[in-house]
Amino acid sequence: MTRPAPEPVRYLTGITTTGTPHLGNYVGAIRPAVQASRTPGTQNFYFLADYHALIKCDDPARIQRSTLEIAACWLAAGLDPAEVFFYRQSDIPEIPELTWFLTCVCGKGLLNRAHAYKAAVDKNAATGADPDTDVTAGLFMYPVLMAADIIMFNAHKVPVGRDQIQHIEMARDMASSFNHLYGPHFTLPEAAVDESVATLPGLDGRKMSKSYDNTIGLFGPREQIRKQIAGIVTDSRAPGEPKDTEGSALFQIYQAFASPEETEALRRAYAEGIAWGDAKQLLFERIDREIAPMRERYQSLVDNPAELERILRQGAEKARAIATPFMGRLREAVGLRNLAQQASGGRKKEEKVALPVFKQYREADGLHYFKLVDPSGRLLLQSTGFASPREAGQAVARLKSEGQPALTAYAAQLQRPHDVNENDLATALSLLRQPA
Ligand code: TRP
Repeated sequence: MTRPAPEPVRYLTGITTTGTPHLGNYVGAIRPAVQASRTPGTQNFYFLADYHALIKCDDPARIQRSTLEIAACWLAAGLDPAEVFFYRQSDIPEIPELTWFLTCVCGKGLLNRAHAYKAAVDKNAATGADPDTDVTAGLFMYPVLMAADIIMFNAHKVPVGRDQIQHIEMARDMASSFNHLYGPHFTLPEAAVDESVATLPGLDGRKMSKSYDNTIGLFGPREQIRKQIAGIVTDSRAPGEPKDTEGSALFQIYQAFASPEETEALRRAYAEGIAWGDAKQLLFERIDREIAPMRERYQSLVDNPAELERILRQGAEKARAIATPFMGRLREAVGLRNLAQQASGGRKKEEKVALPVFKQYREADGLHYFKLVDPSGRLLLQSTGFASPREAGQAVARLKSEGQPALTAYAAQLQRPHDVNENDLATALSLLRQPA
């Protein structure tokens, strides 16, 4: 007998199309994502978040150019569109449609707490301006559009930087509200923050970011990259004087490209007093070794936008093969239905979503236990023994009202069977979610 293949883990991430990729994007996002896309047992979705770009940028030429450059970058870095879903957000009309569905289940208060929106309001407060000055509804709605991106494809994991974790939590919230009202349609996504990927320092030693204007271009002309590298801040130690690797931006950037042996060699060279000019030359050569082969492919794609357009449209077709039928089911679920079929049934009582249940019981050992089982009787969660029925009852109440945080709080007393994944459990709890 052969076992059915386990369901692949779906990874999904979006890239806002407002800039030209730099080395920080490459090391922090593109390179790890391209590597991850080759992991067996995963399904990967990468898309150009051009609707999100409109929130930050009102220069049409820049949006178009950036979309072109970013698409070319990802492909040049080795992303294989035949192996992954690679598409442009604005080619998937189901995404704005789902955004509206989620808008209707998302508490306004949830959005009030979003960091980016709050920062804009706080800034206005600080200058005494009206709180809404320069705050578009697009900025306010940013997390809802992002939630739609993610749950449209029922992603399990969303690789993002720390600053995006709150958005993923909000997406979970919206998915869970929708599930609660209309049935278990959505997987609850989780942020996947890769601690091993260091953020790259920029020319001035702060995090490399276009907002600090301290970046090194990824596929700029070689001479320009050489010049930018020459501009990395160093201290004033002369050739022959030993140098500190600690806090050296140059060293950290080198490390992001080099093998452990190469890094060790540079560490020794620092100790032996390598001249800053020579260290910069080493860095330039090391980066160029990795980037040069990709630069050619990048250039040929940028010079051939029709080919890029074709690849993106093909990607959209592949993504819509999932999104279109799924959106059809969601329309049905909320009641946007063919009226001719209405006669055959609305949501009758017995059609209500069957819910998982908590069962509390006492064992021969005198302790009080509970378990969570789904409507088919499958065990989803098992507790250890509690001293009193009250304690067991309290744990159940918290699991129902809080979901995930209660799972964490009671981790030591709860066991999830091996065949139940975190998402099945989270989805079951979201269905039971009731206000405390
Ligand atoms: N907000 C993300 C960023 O600025 C970009 C983004 C849009 C995204 N939609 C997404 C990331 C969905 C992950 C999943 O980095």
